[in-house]
Amino acid sequence: MKGKILFEKIREKRIELDFTQKYLSELTGISLSLIKVIETGRSETNYENVVKIAETLKIDIEEIFIKGFRNTKVIAVANNKGGCGKTSVVSSLSYTITEVDKDAKILVIDSDMQMNLTRSYGLDRNLDKNLNTALVNEESLTNFITPTEYENIDIIISDLQLSTIDMLLFTKKLRESVFKRLLQPILEQGLYDYIIIDTNPTLGLLNFNILNACDYVLVPVELTAFGIQGLEILTEYFDEVRTINNKLGIIGVLRTKVDKRENITQEADDLLVEVFGDILFESFIPTDANVKKAQWNSVPLNLYSKNSRAAKQYKSLAKEVIKRAK
Ligand SMILES: Nc1ncnc2c1ncn2[C@@H]1O[C@H](COP(=O)(O)OP(=O)(O)OP(=O)(O)O)[C@@H](O)[C@H]1O
Ligand SMILES: [Mg+2]
Repeated sequence: MKGKILFEKIREKRIELDFTQKYLSELTGISLSLIKVIETGRSETNYENVVKIAETLKIDIEEIFIKGFRNTKVIAVANNKGGCGKTSVVSSLSYTITEVDKDAKILVIDSDMQMNLTRSYGLDRNLDKNLNTALVNEESLTNFITPTEYENIDIIISDLQLSTIDMLLFTKKLRESVFKRLLQPILEQGLYDYIIIDTNPTLGLLNFNILNACDYVLVPVELTAFGIQGLEILTEYFDEVRTINNKLGIIGVLRTKVDKRENITQEADDLLVEVFGDILFESFIPTDANVKKAQWNSVPLNLYSKNSRAAKQYKSLAKEVIKRAK
């Protein structure tokens, strides 16, 4: 059962009853080490154990557990190399996660003024309800969510005016944390399992803001000389973000638009394996005309042609992402 453990409450009640952690462990049959991590809030949700604890402490489950609360993982898809497949990844991956995990709820955010992701959901400009307006007015992002035609996917759309947002952010107080602050209310409501953010191809202040709010970044890479050379400056940028957001992890490097017929591909692949090792996703996205066809029709790839080569890889990628984001 999805939910949030109110770990401070457990500790409070245990101390009130004058129980030691060891005694609570004996009464519930839960290991002492697990009791310790639950009380410090470092454990994953485990409903059965929470029920045992509530029974032992003679309290209602609602006092220590918020049912239905989703612990959100925030993932940006980022690479300043233009055209490496960021938007395609956000759109295909989000849809495929909701197929692999039917219970998953996802919010996608389009933070690129090109509005490619927004349009891939068949949506157009909305001058009131878009990311730019939220940032300009410094309003909570909860007010800017638009449903998509897919039940488990919502979106915050972009706008062309985002092209000048870096200049505006520069003048704001705590300018690297504006997006994080506005995103916070969405996380506090526990509405989503994943927030997946499409970013623009720069290393500017908006992307810095976004990475500052993320648990993870997913890096799509094309197996070309320029694609691979650019990774050095990109990882330096991530290091800079980590000076204010040390939890930022690379969830994985994803090979995109892979054409196995090209000789250079194998060489580039070997180099990536050498540099990134386990960070590389096993799944890779092949060049596949269905990706473009699906985009023409504003339909997610895995709905448009679920048996295509790219769709199959997206399915295995979704599983890898779910596993790594735990
Ligand atoms: N697996 C694929 N097979 C074939 N074409 C692809 C594939 N993935 C992406 N493309 C195409 O490559 C182009 C660039 O992809 P996409 O827009 O996703 O990249 P991007 O990194 O978001 O670009 P930008 O940096 O401009 O935001 C698009 O025309 C898209 O249709
Ligand atoms: Mg894009």
